[in-house]
Amino acid sequence: MVETTITVIKADIGSLAGHVVVPDFILELARKSLKEGVEKKIINDYYVTHAGDDLELIMTHTKGEENEEVHRLAWDTFMKGTEKAREMKIYAAGQDILSDTFSGNVKGMGPGSAEMTITERKSEPFGIFMADKTEPGAFNFPLFKMFADPFNTAGLVIDPNLHQGFSFIVQDIKKEVPCYVEMKCPEEMYDLLALLGSTGQYTIKKIYRKDGLIAAAVSTDKLHNIAGKYIGKDDPVAIVRAHSGLPAMGEVLEAFTLPHLVSGWMRGSHTGPLMPVDLENSVCTRFDGPPRVIGLGFQICNGQLVGPIDLFKDVAFDITRQRAMEIADYLRRTGPFQPHRLEQEAMEYTTLPGVLKKCESRFSEEEIVVKGEARDDSDSAE
Ligand code: F6R
Ligand code: MG
Ligand code: MG
Repeated sequence: MVETTITVIKADIGSLAGHVVVPDFILELARKSLKEGVEKKIINDYYVTHAGDDLELIMTHTKGEENEEVHRLAWDTFMKGTEKAREMKIYAAGQDILSDTFSGNVKGMGPGSAEMTITERKSEPFGIFMADKTEPGAFNFPLFKMFADPFNTAGLVIDPNLHQGFSFIVQDIKKEVPCYVEMKCPEEMYDLLALLGSTGQYTIKKIYRKDGLIAAAVSTDKLHNIAGKYIGKDDPVAIVRAHSGLPAMGEVLEAFTLPHLVSGWMRGSHTGPLMPVDLENSVCTRFDGPPRVIGLGFQICNGQLVGPIDLFKDVAFDITRQRAMEIADYLRRTGPFQPHRLEQEAMEYTTLPGVLKKCESRFSEEEIVVKGEARDDSDSAE
């Protein structure tokens, strides 16, 4: 049986009019570059799109995960795109490119990647979910819903092929050296939720059916660990297989109907609702957001991509979008106050150390009383 690897590699290499959208000429350049990759037989097929300001390279091939040739193709595409973006003075050109030299794999170099290797089933439907202005932990909630919540996924209760549950591989993304734990669901559901609720530290890396069939993969790369300072929220991607012993596509998508709160948004320092949108609305503008996710549905036929379909284009998601916009509007009214503004440690931008330094010597262990002679203004208050 031939195995096919689905590789999605993404990077923000510059965007138009701020951190809004990847310019068309960069998308075109990427398509040309990946077409050459097909001609050179590095990959079988490709699709190029963008999630807001992130360029997304979706590829299929037979070379396995973390393959040097495939990763180099993506890297070279980002380098060429960066060069063009710099030439055109596109905003934040080369933002996620943290090195001049390729070291065999994009991991640790800035771009994010999600990969899975599959033996093609009789029919192979899957979705690729790409988010902007948020972080990998944003997928914890919908992936848990899809693969572990019977109120979301009816198949967990009524389809004998899903009834035994799934195994979650969770990564501690705060560790410099990747560190994983396997948790089985439903047996360890409460332990799993104890980790997944801490979205800034524990993120789902992969999900398997109990018999070892790979079902989902997420990009968990953390730029700030690489760069040694906090420089972004690492807008994530997820690949999710559907049907025939896995959640149906409708169950996969149902998991996005609650616009749950995620970290990111303006300056990577705010909480906001994750809004599912169609490709046309993959443009973060209000307060650089609100954070959003696009979904593309494909099938694979002998290693080739068939599709895509724009999964969130359905009007049935309008109610979710409306709710997301109401939540966004409500949160915005609270300005710089938590929890709209993230807690100190999770903020990408902060002036607090500077402010504290400035008034360090003015903090006192005694309560401060403002002295002066209080005026009696009662007579003049006519
Ligand atoms: C968040 C993001 C934007 C920028 C913001 C400030 O991930 O990309 O919200 O942080 O627009 O951008 P700079 O610092 O480039 O002016
Ligand atoms: Mg950007
Ligand atoms: Mg982005």
